Amino acid sequence: MTRVFSGVKPTGHLTLGNYLGAMRQWAAVDQHRAEALFCIVDLHALTVDHDPARVRRLSRQAATLLLAAGLDPRLCTVFVQSHVDEHARLSYLLECVATDGEMRRMIQYKEKAVREQRRGGSVRLSLLTYPVLMAADILAYRTDEVPVGDDQAQHVELSRDLAVRFNQRYGHTFTVPRATLPTVAARVMNLQDPTAKMGKSDDTGPGIVYLLDDPDVVRKKVVRAVTDSGHDVVYDRAARPGLANLLEILAACAGGEPAELAGGYDSYGALKKDTAEAVVEALRPVQERHRALCADPGYVEEVLRDGAERARAMARPTVDAAYGAIGLLPNA
Ligand code: TYM
Repeated sequence: MTRVFSGVKPTGHLTLGNYLGAMRQWAAVDQHRAEALFCIVDLHALTVDHDPARVRRLSRQAATLLLAAGLDPRLCTVFVQSHVDEHARLSYLLECVATDGEMRRMIQYKEKAVREQRRGGSVRLSLLTYPVLMAADILAYRTDEVPVGDDQAQHVELSRDLAVRFNQRYGHTFTVPRATLPTVAARVMNLQDPTAKMGKSDDTGPGIVYLLDDPDVVRKKVVRAVTDSGHDVVYDRAARPGLANLLEILAACAGGEPAELAGGYDSYGALKKDTAEAVVEALRPVQERHRALCADPGYVEEVLRDGAERARAMARPTVDAAYGAIGLLPNA
């Protein structure tokens, strides 16, 4: 059976981008067709300046939102990265396979390193090695497919390279994974700056729709979205990025193709209004389930405990095999 692995990082409140680009497919498709694992990657949240209490809170919230988005622990495994030691164990071995140059070429590293420096902070070494830990997440489970948004494609590509290199040097140990991207909304853009990704760790609140935003807040953010100059409604990602983003969000939430939807509008106002309502309707069931789950925190904890146990049992044989293959004595 196909093995699927993906993850979400608790560095901010989850956004519409996380939902449309990843979580929704995990719940609607992946958990039904594959042996699927979904991970709250809390170790990755420590790669930038962080507040310990906030990371704990956001990790719990991310787990609750994954379940609220429809992940069913009877169909898939939901767990927290730091609860399964195999991720960190394997990461070190992969650091011995990856190169410094490869890490420095990663787009997200370059962007985040610049941002940290601008804030006057220093760049943590773990930010540089971030993609290696991500490769460990994926490879520890002999993952076939990694459903992610467009921004993670380069990291998954690196995981492939490391798997191939390790297998060639030390014998076949890992499955070579591949990224699977959604057909629409693979890159939801910031509503205030449609040339930038809608990212949860960014500070521009009005351009980001959070999964737990009240319906009126969602409406306000969508209606105030920056659009391009011009009056006709056309779908053109390069020339009209603001409009294209709204059309893609509408298509992802209400169905249809962005280019076709464009033909149905002759004003920006009507498009924004319909997009806002479509987003509100898409988020409504998630928010309702989130409220119900918050009333039962014991349930979420139990899911995570059980998930970690299952994940550990799946990862350990592969990671042990990698330790043996690379030349370490068995810990008998
Ligand atoms: P993270 O937490 O940034 O995002 C989680 C998922 O949401 C997708 N996503 C988006 N998709 C479309 N438009 C957007 N604006 C948008 N913003 C986020 C991401 O592509 C991702 O699929 N490095 C990963 C976490 C990770 C991981 C892994 C993922 C760690 N280990 C192993 C897969 C497999 C990250 O920071 O995702």
